[in-house]
Amino acid sequence: MSKDGLKIVTIGGGSSYTPELIEGYILRQEQLPISEIVLVDIDEGREKLEIVGAMAKRMVKAADLDWKVTLTYDRFEALKDADYVTTQFRVGLLNARVKDERIPLSHGVLGQETNGAGGLFKAFRTIPVILDIIEDMKVQCPNAWLINFTNPAGMVTEAAINIGGWERTLGLCNVPIGHTKAGAEALGMDEEELFFHYAGINHFHWHRIFDKDGNERTHEVIDKIYDPSGVGNKGDMENIHAGLFHYEQIKDLNMLPCGYHRYYYLADEMLEESIKDFNEGKTRAQVVKGTEADLFELYKDPELDYKPEELTLRGGTHYSDAACEIIASIQNNKHTQMVVSTKNNGTITDLPNSAVVEVSGVVTAKGFVPYNWGAFEHPAARGSLQLMKAMEETTIRAAVSGDYGVALQAFTMNPLIPAGHKAKTLLDQMLYANKKYLPQFAEKIKEIEKYQLDDINYIDKLMESN
Ligand code: G6P
Repeated sequence: MSKDGLKIVTIGGGSSYTPELIEGYILRQEQLPISEIVLVDIDEGREKLEIVGAMAKRMVKAADLDWKVTLTYDRFEALKDADYVTTQFRVGLLNARVKDERIPLSHGVLGQETNGAGGLFKAFRTIPVILDIIEDMKVQCPNAWLINFTNPAGMVTEAAINIGGWERTLGLCNVPIGHTKAGAEALGMDEEELFFHYAGINHFHWHRIFDKDGNERTHEVIDKIYDPSGVGNKGDMENIHAGLFHYEQIKDLNMLPCGYHRYYYLADEMLEESIKDFNEGKTRAQVVKGTEADLFELYKDPELDYKPEELTLRGGTHYSDAACEIIASIQNNKHTQMVVSTKNNGTITDLPNSAVVEVSGVVTAKGFVPYNWGAFEHPAARGSLQLMKAMEETTIRAAVSGDYGVALQAFTMNPLIPAGHKAKTLLDQMLYANKKYLPQFAEKIKEIEKYQLDDINYIDKLMESN
């Protein structure tokens, strides 16, 4: 930290979530001696950055703080002497997400932002960019912390640590926040009276719940939430269909699944719902485009100087608040209990030490200290987790190397992509559709353009019908 105070840089500063971030800093002003907040974006995001940046300035002014809020398109310069760098960017903007969802769904295969073929393509587009950011950080701010909440958060965090070599990286997600609220509510207790122990990987983790006397309460929450006569699903995100897990199966696991496990445990139902959305032109990205447009209309109001309630319509609500708490906790050695994507180092003994896992622990001045989990007792959890982790590792390899065979391997391993001819067709079409954002696959894409006219026509037509 310079003598003037903390410098916090946000990459993807034009995101609609930025007001939540600013609100989080303002709420923690006593703990965060901020001198400058820098919001960085790319030229394509200029309009959004200008709108949300002006709003951030109004929020800081309304809070009577002297923090400097800088808007810039020069990432390298922005990173100079940063203490914390937060990442919330989306390579290819929302249009890329539309493709991640619609191309697979047009084949009757799940396409989702972080799951299935869509998640893999988001990783292919994003990992090279996080690695570039790290190269800049090595020069400009070698001691900074990197707080990543860019999706797919687990894989992006793993690439940052294992490929970029940036050990001071912490990955964040809002999913555990909702589940913790729901668990406490189901037991009629305060969150502080309970201990929630999470383990797994991003969007594929489970948790157990204990009271202060060390008694396990997980089974009670399973009964309350998943027994068909119980209180029903609570604490789920806005962005995915809230199908009810099968009670008997969850009882057998004796752990609470995360909301995203629905894509795996209720695969056919989730696919059916997503295909319905596709047919109605209402995949999540298409809906979010509308929500974003409305939010930015609100943000334009020169009188608006606080985070509007409408932001809770986005699935990622609370994300940014968690990022602010991580920063406050590092800065003040608060030992805040959180769920973070971090290097395994033996926390889950079923996975390699180098794997990035999402687990409970405390945030200290030295970083994140995970609570030991040990081995998963249930082979169903162990086996599926090991497969998913290996699939993620393979995806990262493909994202870095641009090797078509490795990408096809990742597609084949993904439980939501039927392996075989369809997987290959889908991979080729998605490569072509993402051409602009996948320089590492340029050779293969050239080949597709040369010889696979059918695939090209198919994608061009599909995108026109958006
Ligand atoms: C959840 C997930 C995030 C994801 C968000 C999407 O919160 O945990 O990883 O970014 O939903 O929300 P959206 O409103 O963009 O569909």
